[in-house]
Amino acid sequence: MSLLQTLKNDQMRMIPEKYKSIPVSEMEERIREIKNKFGEKLLIPGHHYQKDEIIQFADITGDSLQLAQASAENRKAEHIVFCGVHFMAETADMLTANHQKVYLPDMRAGCSMADMADIKQTERAWEKLQKIFGDTIIPLTYVNSTAAIKAFVGKNGGATVTSSNAKEIVKWALSQKERILFLPDQHLGRNTAFDLDISLEKMAVWDQNTEKLEYEGEDNLKVLLWKGHCSVHEKFTVKNIEYIRTSKPDMSILVHPECTHEVVVKSDYAGSTKYIIDMLEKAPAGSKWAIGTEMNLVNRLIQAHPDKEVISLNPYMCPCLTMNRIDLAHLLWSLEELDQNGTGVNQIIVGEDVTRNAVKALDRMLSIR
Ligand code: 13P
Ligand code: SF4
Repeated sequence: MSLLQTLKNDQMRMIPEKYKSIPVSEMEERIREIKNKFGEKLLIPGHHYQKDEIIQFADITGDSLQLAQASAENRKAEHIVFCGVHFMAETADMLTANHQKVYLPDMRAGCSMADMADIKQTERAWEKLQKIFGDTIIPLTYVNSTAAIKAFVGKNGGATVTSSNAKEIVKWALSQKERILFLPDQHLGRNTAFDLDISLEKMAVWDQNTEKLEYEGEDNLKVLLWKGHCSVHEKFTVKNIEYIRTSKPDMSILVHPECTHEVVVKSDYAGSTKYIIDMLEKAPAGSKWAIGTEMNLVNRLIQAHPDKEVISLNPYMCPCLTMNRIDLAHLLWSLEELDQNGTGVNQIIVGEDVTRNAVKALDRMLSIR
């Protein structure tokens, strides 16, 4: 279910007013107490884009792949309070056992990119593309997609991908069928295929609104890209890169592959949030870095590496607003409900049918390492 549908279905509970006036130190103390009380029965995963106030309480931090793997491996936690966005909590629900419950502290923590691929549009696109290309397409979806899209992909023999493993999965997919349909992020799809030496002329964009394929090159298409994007990463521009190249020529540029192709090819390095963190860890003291990814992570890297010069590639970057919905007050609220009523707020439950098919796509990804 997309976040919009969830909100319309009125499954969302809003935080009570009283949480808005609790001093930070008291919230932190209360969270610590509940965490200690639950021990291993409670797991708090935190995506790298979460705020520091949340990361300090995360039992595991990671990129999307690491958090999906951790959810699939953990069987001890009965309650998983997921500090990330909706599609990540859905994935955790689908990969955990029946006795494990997953909660999202604020249901408004969605992902605008995931919502750009609607299941009805996807089914219609598939039908039309099958008419054009016959049975030659394998669907792949970035994990930043709804459970329904993952289920569609699983049912049609495809797999999920993350920004950490996209190259391996696209390679695998092209060993299965002649061409791929890549949902919903056109940039990750294009950047990954290009990295595998597929020329831009062999790629087309499927516009889900006009229901037409847009391409300038050959007819022998290998990669069909859904017309979706991340509004945070699209804010990094070639102009930002040109500015760094002239004002700080000894600075390396490191970006997330959700950035546009023009930005990625002009950067020095591109990779997932984990890749970005690892690169900075390995970098020598005195090195200089302009980072093209979400602001909370960039700020954390600036703090963690006082011996290096680290800046955001775009000085006017905003954080991912939906990731930022999760704050101390929402975490505390979720934990206190769990403590007092035995269940946290906003439990994420993906239906059985959808789970069965989506897990096929997730399992294919997790088995191709
Ligand atoms: P990672 O898989 O690199 O953590 O990225 C997730 C994401 O949403 C980036 O916008
Ligand atoms: Fe979605 Fe972009 Fe936010 Fe990542 S940064 S969660 S892709 S909106």
